[in-house]
Amino acid sequence: MKLAIYGAGGHGRVVADAAELSDEWSAVVFFDDGYPEFKKSGKWPVIGQLCDLLSVLDSYDGVIVAVGACSERLRLLKLLREQGANIVSVIHPSAVIASGCDIGRGVMVCAMAVVNTGSAIADAVIINTSATIDHDGILAEGVHISPGANLAGGVSVGACSWVGIGSSVKQQVTIGDNVVVGAGAAVIKNVSSGMTVVGVPAAPIKNGLE
Ligand SMILES: CC(C)(COP(=O)(O)OP(=O)(O)OC[C@H]1O[C@@H](n2cnc3c(N)ncnc32)[C@H](O)[C@@H]1OP(=O)(O)O)[C@@H](O)C(=O)NCCC(=O)NCCS
Repeated sequence: MKLAIYGAGGHGRVVADAAELSDEWSAVVFFDDGYPEFKKSGKWPVIGQLCDLLSVLDSYDGVIVAVGACSERLRLLKLLREQGANIVSVIHPSAVIASGCDIGRGVMVCAMAVVNTGSAIADAVIINTSATIDHDGILAEGVHISPGANLAGGVSVGACSWVGIGSSVKQQVTIGDNVVVGAGAAVIKNVSSGMTVVGVPAAPIKNGLE
C-alpha cells in the first residue's frame, strides 16, 4: 500500500514515521512545492510538487496533507479530495482511540494521544503528541490540538482553531472557529470565533486572526 504525504516539513516527517510504524503502508513518499530543490525529508523521498501529485493520484492508495497551518491544510485536503484522492487518516500505534469515536478523513493522531469515548473528530484535524480529548469532545474540520494539550469532557472546538501546546480546556467549554489558544493557557469560558486567548485563566489578546 502506497501513501503520498503532501507537506515534507517537520510535521510531515511525524506523519511519515507514524504511517510506517502502523504497518498499513509499505511505501511512503512526499510531495512538496519545495521540490526539486528539496528532494529528501528525513529518510523519505520528495518526488514532486502538488501539481505532480494531482496528476498521479491513481498511483497512491492513500493521501494525507501534513501542513501545519489549519485553513491551508483543510483547503488542500478538499482540493485533493475533489480531484479524486483517497484521503486517509494516520494514527500512531501508541495513540488510544476509545470505542464509540468517529474519526474523519485526513486526520493525524500522534504518539501517546488519547481520544476518549463519544468524541467526534472531523476531517483534517491534528491531535498532536500526548494531547488528550476526553469523552464527547467535538473537533471541527481543520482543528489542531498541539502537543500536551488537554481537553476535558464535552469540549467543542470550531473549524480551523489551534489549541496551543500544554494548554487546558475546562469541561463543556465551546471554542469558536479560527480561534488561537496560546501555549499554556487555561480556558475556563467559551471563546468566540476569531479570538486569540492566552494565560491562566485565558483572556483575549486580539481579534480577527484571518
Ligand atoms: C498566542 C500566540 C499565537 C501569540 O503569538 P503572537 O500573536 O505572535 O503574539 P506576541 O508574541 O506578539 O505576544 C503578544 C503578547 O501576548 C503575550 N503572549 C503571547 N503568547 C502568550 C502565551 N502563550 N501566554 C501568555 N502570554 C502570551 C506576549 O507576552 C505579549 O505580551 P506583551 O504585549 O505584554 O508583551 C503564541 O504566543 C502562542 O502561544 N502560540 C502557540 C504555540 C504552540 O502551541 N506551538 C505548538 C506547535 S505544535
